[in-house]
Amino acid sequence: MASTLPLSEFPELSVDPARLPRHVAIIMDGNGRWAQRHGLARREGHRRGKDSVRAVIDAAREIGLPVLSLFAFSAENWNRPPEEVNWLMELFHRYLMTESRRLMKRGIRIVVVGDKARLPGRVCRVLDEVVAATAGNRAMTVALALSYGGRQDLVRAVRRIAEEVAAGRLSAEQVDEPMLASLLATSGLPDPDLLIRTSGEQRISNFFLYEAAYTELYFTETLWPDFREREFLQALAAYQNRERRFGAIGNGVGRGGDGPR
Ligand code: IPE
Ligand code: IPE
Ligand code: MG
Repeated sequence: MASTLPLSEFPELSVDPARLPRHVAIIMDGNGRWAQRHGLARREGHRRGKDSVRAVIDAAREIGLPVLSLFAFSAENWNRPPEEVNWLMELFHRYLMTESRRLMKRGIRIVVVGDKARLPGRVCRVLDEVVAATAGNRAMTVALALSYGGRQDLVRAVRRIAEEVAAGRLSAEQVDEPMLASLLATSGLPDPDLLIRTSGEQRISNFFLYEAAYTELYFTETLWPDFREREFLQALAAYQNRERRFGAIGNGVGRGGDGPR
């Protein structure tokens, strides 16, 4: 099992712990290309990507990030060849089986966003176990996006609102942003302040569509299996140099930070 590095190994990357994002979301992309570049089968890229997950979770925990979400499998990834889908499900299963003790030790709470009903039974069961076992942990929340699609999640929420209106329990005027947000899978989590996408692609690929309204975007060429503690700190440092305006007029101060107050 790969070991992870303490952040003191990277003194040159200064991240101000007082101005951390509340929530960092990551689109973990590029496993297949990593494998191809190393002359390996795609599955080896996914296997290596698991070590990056561990490294980034540990780094986030060490630095004191409240929420980290990881896009592991999109609603559209079901369209991949069955062998690849099966291997990814096998990896999620293995990951959850082997990492749960480690997550407990670090006080990390796991939550899941996405359409769990589509996941194989054995993945669902271990997910339920890990979510239940870690529910009381308070040091950090890790949201795993599995079989997740932003549009699908919005449609699900809108359907629930329509049902409430049709049943006469809700009027159209009562529908507002907090209500819609409370019906999304991410309900209870702060909106992401920073969204990182690896592998050079510059798109959202149906990730947090509603939640990312004012998220800072950070794209890196680094492929996910090569994205480790150093790259994570680099992304946080870049975030702390951004000026977030939320539609107001900038004054050049208050870089980074965690949103409007
Ligand atoms: C990301 O890597 C992992 C998942 C989407 C599950 P990819 O498998 O998309 O790797 P590339 O983009 O083909 O290199
Ligand atoms: C996005 O990556 C989904 C995950 C990382 C889980 P994809 O590789 O599926 O995205 P596209 O197809 O390149 O947009
Ligand atoms: Mg990809």
